[in-house]
Amino acid sequence: MSSGWEADADLVVVGTGVAGLTAALEATARGLRVVVVTKAEADAGNTRWAQGGVAVVLPGEHDPDDSVRRHIDDTIVAGAGLCDLEAVATILSDGPGAVARLRDAGAVFDAGPHQRLARTREGGHTAFRVIHAGGDATGAEVERALLAGARNRALTLLERHSAVAVSKTPAGAVAGLAVVDDGGTLGRLRAPAVLLATGGLGQLYETTTNPDVATADGVALALRAGAMVADLEFVQFHPTVLHNGRGARGRRPLVTEAVRGEGAVLVDGAGARVMAGVHPLEDLAPRDVVSAAVIRRLAEAPGGIDDHVFLDATHRSGEAFRTRFPTVYAACQDAGIDPATEPIPVAPAAHFGCGGVVTSVDGRSCVPGLYAAGEVARTGLHGANRLASNSLLEGLVVGTRAARAVAADHASGALGDPRTATEAEPAAQPVADRPVLQQLMSRHAAIGRDHDGLEVVAKSLDSMSERRVPRGRGDVEDAALHLVARALVFAAGERQESRGCHLRHDHAGRDDERWRRSLVVGLDDAGQPALVRSLDLGGVA
Ligand code: SIN
Repeated sequence: MSSGWEADADLVVVGTGVAGLTAALEATARGLRVVVVTKAEADAGNTRWAQGGVAVVLPGEHDPDDSVRRHIDDTIVAGAGLCDLEAVATILSDGPGAVARLRDAGAVFDAGPHQRLARTREGGHTAFRVIHAGGDATGAEVERALLAGARNRALTLLERHSAVAVSKTPAGAVAGLAVVDDGGTLGRLRAPAVLLATGGLGQLYETTTNPDVATADGVALALRAGAMVADLEFVQFHPTVLHNGRGARGRRPLVTEAVRGEGAVLVDGAGARVMAGVHPLEDLAPRDVVSAAVIRRLAEAPGGIDDHVFLDATHRSGEAFRTRFPTVYAACQDAGIDPATEPIPVAPAAHFGCGGVVTSVDGRSCVPGLYAAGEVARTGLHGANRLASNSLLEGLVVGTRAARAVAADHASGALGDPRTATEAEPAAQPVADRPVLQQLMSRHAAIGRDHDGLEVVAKSLDSMSERRVPRGRGDVEDAALHLVARALVFAAGERQESRGCHLRHDHAGRDDERWRRSLVVGLDDAGQPALVRSLDLGGVA
């Protein structure tokens, strides 16, 4: 790797999704010099793929009996006993303000009757409280508004640079970030604060709703910098991902849960309802329940394992479907399916990491100067299973709060001095063979796990990987996937029960007595994932 350039900033933000851009805009408005780093183009992140919307109870714009309190209750029920009640309450209560700021910044949400916003419903919500944009293109509109704001502000956007390592002061505080471009040139950003907003980890699996940038980079950077992660074992699989053929790989089109929120139902190959009798909310049960039911139905199919079920949305006319869900309609058309006349083939695929870097609700990690916000972080909002459409809201709320925390920490002198950085050369790391890793994770660490399968993944990861200094984006990603797969499998092996998105065939029940706790994982001296402590959530419903 050739040594290149150096630059100074007050805050380096890694990632251009909703949390990163929100934070960058807020920090710039507070007078901080901000550099935003992304390994791809600024609009290549996960945010733009979000369809359903933003879950929020806006004053004067909600169902008659809805309230923030009820949104909190739904979130806690979906989280299957692992939500942090205070985090849920404070983040969701800040939702209306965050959405108001986003609309002031230019985001346009779909209009409903009586000059109010249109609202839909998704799994686990007991009210219509999900606002949306462009029908089913909410993420694209949120990202458009935030990126337009970022391009008008005095912040530096550094595209096509991958974050390799967080540098530290001798006292252990953040001193900046080493980045590498696709030609292998190393750059050093000296800054006392780094905010990780790198999004998700869907590329750990063969099929996912996430784009190819979702390679768990931020979780790996944080672990290597000495931060803790928690709830990594809870990977949410979205139940209705367009099934376009056996053997399809990589990002697959989402069929938003709002389609079910507005009347569609899941049926199997024989036309029988999948969710009838499974849960009181039937097709609108929390997502972990629906995905597990789909997998069970597939396994029970006559003749052995089937690979998809169907989403029947034929109650709607073609024009009504196309207008309300243009993104899904276009994906169906590409696959030769007319959702008005035939059921849509769907199957679960990896969608959202409910865990991540342990932070406060202001985005602070345990490493001074290291912050995280959005999917990469674990604030305690999601517990063991995220409630639908709570993630854009979390990105908006915690992105703003993290920027304010950085500004406050600057002002109070809580941050390190980047001039004292001990700049090591980036270290050699195990770099995964991605297709093999994805196959192992999909087979043994997806929906339905057991001790033996998790052991197979752990041993294979330990034996298969070459160690090298990351020379560019591909290596950075494959090293991140390796480390995070290792940590995830470790946590999944520790948790000997089934809860939320974590289903163990060999420990089928939920065991609140032993396991109503978040497992906090760090790296030991040999760089291996190890249990640091557990956060007891015994008081939380
Ligand atoms: C969806 O639209 O079904 C996905 C929304 C989310 O993951 O929150």
